[in-house]
Amino acid sequence: MTVDDSKIDRYAVVGHPVKHSRSPMIQQFFAQETGENMSYGLLDASPDDFEVVVRGFGASGGKGLNITVPHKQAAFELATELGQAAVCSGAVNTLTFRTDGTIRGDNTDGIGFMKDLTVNQAQKIAGKRILILGAGGATRGILAPLLDAEPAEVLLANRTLERALTLVKEFETTIDFSACSFEDLAEREPFEIVINATSAGVRGEAPPFPPSCVSSISFCYDLTYGLEGTPFNAWARKHGSERTVQGWGMLVEQAAASFEIWRGTRPDTADILSKISV
Ligand code: ATR
Repeated sequence: MTVDDSKIDRYAVVGHPVKHSRSPMIQQFFAQETGENMSYGLLDASPDDFEVVVRGFGASGGKGLNITVPHKQAAFELATELGQAAVCSGAVNTLTFRTDGTIRGDNTDGIGFMKDLTVNQAQKIAGKRILILGAGGATRGILAPLLDAEPAEVLLANRTLERALTLVKEFETTIDFSACSFEDLAEREPFEIVINATSAGVRGEAPPFPPSCVSSISFCYDLTYGLEGTPFNAWARKHGSERTVQGWGMLVEQAAASFEIWRGTRPDTADILSKISV
């Protein structure tokens, strides 16, 4: 039996660099599991080429794109219609090309993170004291659903204090939500949930946080991931944390949410999570 390529719906991830992306492997796994007739590739586009590459993909019949670093804000600007999570975060990780020429932009990072944290990791958020390290794009993506889950407190600590203060001002919430510098953190009790949303580890830099913010009560979640574990999780364990998790689950769950937007069917994530997580 031959397969007619023109009948296969095309998707891809756009980033720069993009060749190490796990998205093709995850999305192809979902397609096989659900029997959806689709292909999923890699598109490397520099910031200068991003718009041409995205529009060209849509014009040639492509159905949807995942957007990764450094293009999530450019994708937000390019979309003609935005989902609520995209509006809250000012960033888009999922584009859908409609037949009428409109381009829908969604952000599934926040839902993916919350699904992993609250379902896969079984963490209760309500009433908890939460520390987020970092105030960049990754933090922006997870803040709205985290605040909606009614923690007792969310403290945002960042190397550049001004950036954290600006982010706090952007969110209207009844939750105790404030910002501080890493130095100020030394005055605080250990937190129950500590989320690393800085790119310090990715850049090979040691975690610059005061060790007193973690202890045996701290559940530590690194939004980044690596086959050898992450520098932040190693640091957290060294300073007493007994539970550390990498962002593999968030990666899989945000991919599942994108898949559902495109195909209208929710893939099961348990099988791939057991294969991919370390
Ligand atoms: P992302 O989209 O990955 O969040 P980003 O928007 O560039 O990328 O944000 C990176 C975050 O990591 C920021 O909070 C940054 O701190 P600054 O706002 O002070 O730049 C933080 N970060 C990067 N390298 C760091 C390091 N070596 N130590 C501490 N924080 C770091």
